[in-house]
Amino acid sequence: MKPKVYIARKISKEVEEYIGKHCDYRKWQGEGAIPLDVLIEEIKEVDGLLVQHAPITHELLEQAPNLKIISNSAVGYDSFDLEAMKQHKVLGTHTPFVLDETVADLAFSLILATARRVPELNNFVKQGKWDKQTDSRHLFGIDVHHATMGIIGMGRIGEKIVRRARFGFEMEVLYTSRTPKPALEEKYGIVYSELDALLEKSDFVVLIVPLTPETHHLMGQQQFEKMKNSAILINCARGAVVDERALIRALEKGEIRGAGLDVFEQEPVSPDNPLLGMDQVVALPHIGSATEKTRATMLMKAAENLVEGVTGKVPQNVVKELQDLLAN
Ligand code: NAP
Ligand code: GLV
Repeated sequence: MKPKVYIARKISKEVEEYIGKHCDYRKWQGEGAIPLDVLIEEIKEVDGLLVQHAPITHELLEQAPNLKIISNSAVGYDSFDLEAMKQHKVLGTHTPFVLDETVADLAFSLILATARRVPELNNFVKQGKWDKQTDSRHLFGIDVHHATMGIIGMGRIGEKIVRRARFGFEMEVLYTSRTPKPALEEKYGIVYSELDALLEKSDFVVLIVPLTPETHHLMGQQQFEKMKNSAILINCARGAVVDERALIRALEKGEIRGAGLDVFEQEPVSPDNPLLGMDQVVALPHIGSATEKTRATMLMKAAENLVEGVTGKVPQNVVKELQDLLAN
C-alpha cells in the first residue's frame, strides 16, 4: 500500500505525477490558502503533508496521529511550531539553496527601486505630470554604486546579495550574523560589524535573517534612530523582523529616507497600512522567490522531501532544529 499524503497548495502536473508515483494523495483544489478547518479534516489519516507557509501548530498536529513529515515549499520555516513538532516526532523540511539567486535579484530590485524612486517616478510619468516646467532636481535619487551596504544575515541568500553588491555595484559591505564568516570576508572583501555600528554607517540596511524569537522586532525605534537620515531599509526576510509601527514613525519623522519591503507583519498587508501611502516606500507582495522557474524547482524539491519522508528514506532538507528526530 502506498503512503497517504495531502497537498495543501496548488502544484504543477509534473509535481503531481511525481508524488502520485509514490503516494496516494489528495489535494486542495480551492482558490487561495486552504482554510484551517479543511486542512485539519484532510490530514486526519495522512503520513505526509506538503504546504507553503501554512502555520503548523500543536492543535493541528494533534489531529494527525500518523503524520511523519511536513514539507514546506519555502526556505523560511517560522510557520513551524518546532517544539510541537519535536513532541509529536514530526519531521519538517524546507527548500534551501534553489531560490538564493532569485531572492538576491529581488533584493536588488528593491534597492534600485527605492534609491532611484522608480515606482514613484513611473507613476509621475504615466499620470502626465512630466512637462516642460518639471524641475529635474525634484527627480533626483541616490546612488547605489559605491554606497555602503549593511547586511543583517550572512547565510545562503546573504552571500548572493553581497556578490552582486561587491562585484556589480562596487559597494562597501558591512555584515552581521550570529557568527563571523572569515572565509566570506576573504572572498568578497566584506567586514564584520556589530549591529549598532552597521546601522550608523550604512546607506542601505538589508535584512535577510530567519524570523526567530531572537530576530523578532530586531529593527525597532532605537535601531531606526541609529540609522543615517539618508539611509534606506530593505526587508526581504520576514515582516516581523521589523517593528512596523517604529518603521512608520521613523519614515514620518524623516529618521530614514525610505524602505523597500517585500514582507509585512500582516500578510496580505492591509490596504489601510500607512506604509502603503508613502511615496518613499516600495511595497511588494512577498515575491522574493516568485519566478516561474524557481517556484517550480522549489515545489519539486518539496515533493522529493515529502516522498523521502513517507517512504522510509532520510529527507535531504530536514530543518536543523529537527535533525535530532532522525536519530530516533
Ligand atoms: P540562512 O542560510 O540560514 O542564513 C540566515 C543568516 O541569518 C545566517 O547568517 C545567520 O547567522 C543569520 N542569523 C540568524 N539569526 C540571527 C540573529 N539573531 N542575528 C543576526 N543574524 C542572525 O537562511 P537563508 O536561506 O539565507 O534565508 C534567510 C531568510 O530569508 C529565510 O529564513 C526567510 O525567512 C527569508 N526569505 C524570504 C524570502 C522572500 O520571499 N522575501 C525568500 C527566501 C527567504 P549564522 O550563519 O551565524 O547562523
Ligand atoms: C519565502 O519567503 C521563503 O522563505 O522561501
